[in-house]
Amino acid sequence: MSRLHVVSGKGGTGKTTVAAALALALATEGRRTLLVEVEGRQGIAQLFETEALPYEERKIAVAPASDGAALRAAAGNGSGGEAPRGGGRRGGGEVHALAIDAERALLDYLQMFYKLGSAGRALKKLGAIDFATTIAPGLRDVLLTGKACEAVRRKDKNGRFVYDAVVMDAPPTGRITRFLNVNDEVAGLAKIGPIHNQAQAVMRVLKSPETAVHLVTLLEEMPVQETADGVAELRAAGIPVGGIVINMTRPALLDNGDLDIAARGARAGVAKALSQAGLGGARRGGLADRLIDPLLEQAREHAERVELERAEYAELTAIGLPTYELELLPEGVDLAGLYHLARDLRKQGPI
Ligand SMILES: Nc1ncnc2c1ncn2[C@@H]1O[C@H](COP(=O)(O)OP(=O)(O)OP(=O)(O)O)[C@@H](O)[C@H]1O
Ligand SMILES: [Mg+2]
Repeated sequence: MSRLHVVSGKGGTGKTTVAAALALALATEGRRTLLVEVEGRQGIAQLFETEALPYEERKIAVAPASDGAALRAAAGNGSGGEAPRGGGRRGGGEVHALAIDAERALLDYLQMFYKLGSAGRALKKLGAIDFATTIAPGLRDVLLTGKACEAVRRKDKNGRFVYDAVVMDAPPTGRITRFLNVNDEVAGLAKIGPIHNQAQAVMRVLKSPETAVHLVTLLEEMPVQETADGVAELRAAGIPVGGIVINMTRPALLDNGDLDIAARGARAGVAKALSQAGLGGARRGGLADRLIDPLLEQAREHAERVELERAEYAELTAIGLPTYELELLPEGVDLAGLYHLARDLRKQGPI
């Protein structure tokens, strides 16, 4: 099973929301997950309603026990399978978060290899770090992905992984392959030496079955097209693709028969139903008469949208990856909504 989950997708489709819900969903039965942000926008802090994240891992949420775990715990036979980590965490798990900052990551990195000490601070003051990451975007990317890979592989003193899974709120589909394909990115930059080695090590993790890139989409033409293109690009680069998360799905209001009627605009039937509902006869200028056209129009629009969504859905399933669906929360995504989405993901099986 993958331990590094990279969440991408077209801008605004819900990458940050889905990454957070996934980190919560994976944090059950004593598991600990790390949710990382790489674009410095503090989206995670906003979502979890906490203050801005520093460049440091910290616990931001406790996931509730899954129903199964709660039942097993109640029956007194533990959580089964792996032993839970530490006391008091049976059933639920923990989500930690980290906002990775390229500048800080570069300083850490230089520190590690060159023992820079105060020279590092001087470099920072001079703006040399900004300069280095601006002229070499590949360097910036290898630092960001490198930090995530380091968290994936980190072990505690008992030889256990510190995080059972790492979930990355990643750049959008248009940039994801380049972002992850750091080897190519730094190839022109460093052919030997620590940066080259770092890129190789990162690439080994990213191309292994330990990694899965998930793409978030809506049932709309543009995001679906981007998803199909993104999957093709990632596959061509040899980066493992996980699943497709269809976000903001809307419930079906009408069955197929009614959809058909709505699409055809069955005026007489609607007029009759309105008058039966006590909204007056269908005489000209009456209430029913004034209601009927806007109603028919709405029904037709709905039928059209459903038809379009079905076509997009078929495109997505044709890609041949597992799909997961998350409904549109009418009130938007607050903390309770996020837990709700996490539960929905968990119910749909391992991702
Ligand atoms: N299932 C959902 N139901 C209702 N609202 C949602 C859902 N998923 C996401 N949203 C809302 O849609 C908006 C965009 O979501 P989010 O910020 O997660 O997208 P993003 O892909 O990370 O965007 P960006 O490309 O700007 O980083 C937010 O306001 C979020 O609360
Ligand atoms: Mg986002």
